[in-house]
Amino acid sequence: MVDRAAGAPRPASTAPVGGLGPRGRGLFDRLLGGLRGTPAARTEAISLAVASGKGGTGKSFVATSLAVLLHRRGQRTAIVDCDFGLACDHLLLGVKPQLTLQQLVSGKATLDQVLCATSCGPRLLPGASGVRKMAALADKELGVFAREVGALAVREDALVLDLGAGISPPTVLTMLAADQIVLVTQPEIAALVDAYAIVKCIVQLRPNARFLVIMNRVLAPGRGEQAFEKLTEVARQHVGVGLGYLGEIADDARVSQHRLGQLPLVVTEPELPVCQQLAAIAERLAAVCAPFGPRTVAGEQGFEGRCKQHRLLL
Ligand SMILES: Nc1ncnc2c1ncn2[C@@H]1O[C@H](COP(=O)(O)OP(=O)(O)OP(=O)(O)O)[C@@H](O)[C@H]1O
Ligand SMILES: [Mg+2]
Repeated sequence: MVDRAAGAPRPASTAPVGGLGPRGRGLFDRLLGGLRGTPAARTEAISLAVASGKGGTGKSFVATSLAVLLHRRGQRTAIVDCDFGLACDHLLLGVKPQLTLQQLVSGKATLDQVLCATSCGPRLLPGASGVRKMAALADKELGVFAREVGALAVREDALVLDLGAGISPPTVLTMLAADQIVLVTQPEIAALVDAYAIVKCIVQLRPNARFLVIMNRVLAPGRGEQAFEKLTEVARQHVGVGLGYLGEIADDARVSQHRLGQLPLVVTEPELPVCQQLAAIAERLAAVCAPFGPRTVAGEQGFEGRCKQHRLLL
């Protein structure tokens, strides 16, 4: 039976680790955390980490839109704003959360208190905005993040993880732990170079990682696919990895002019070409990941377990 109860934060271990400084204690805790308390087998959502390398490629726009579309396709979907310290998904989904990941990872609120319903379908685990300390999560906070996102995965069919730009340790860890990495990039050299850098960085740590590419802000039809062909060829030649292609989204001023705090465009103007392209991408995503939805995983293979394993590498 699926455990749908929200896990209240467990007290952290207070056992003394004699003779070790803070660095040593951190490593000791990680090693111990990797070994103890393997959770039982459970049913978990498929997790999709939306990443880019370069900032501003449209990750949050795509992640929120896909979360809405997947929910409308009948998948119970939650989106987690993993842009630690610079979150904005609540604005793109038209909600005003009272609590965020900041209270969750510091143990001041439970998952149920922080999780936010949206009128367009998916639940949102909102991030904090303008909070510097969230940009540098301590090891213990990262552990709580992994555990709570793992608990959320147990309740959902699909988890969309909207990452920040760059390759900070929490961003890399989230990519390593996700089932699929959805790279949102653009057909311009700086964005493609950074997308390739993400592939290279992740493959070094997890050789069997799976990447799916979305080309956003495409100025002429077909340019996205051309750029994708170059990107996948470079990845194949240099790191021996093939990438999957989900499709392109046109550059459309109505996206950037859409007012924050309103419902997303895929809800208010689903007939727009960009929204149709997003719907086609959601359909392909579901087909590529088939059977799309929750799967039974052994405890250590769940989201939390994968975070624990990969934390040892970072
Ligand atoms: N297809 C598009 N056409 C026009 N504008 C777009 C498109 N996609 C995204 N934008 C705009 O680009 C800007 C950046 O988008 P978004 O915030 O989604 O990027 P991001 O990758 O999440 O950025 P960050 O790295 O800061 O998290 C926003 O103003 C957004 O409206
Ligand atoms: Mg973003």
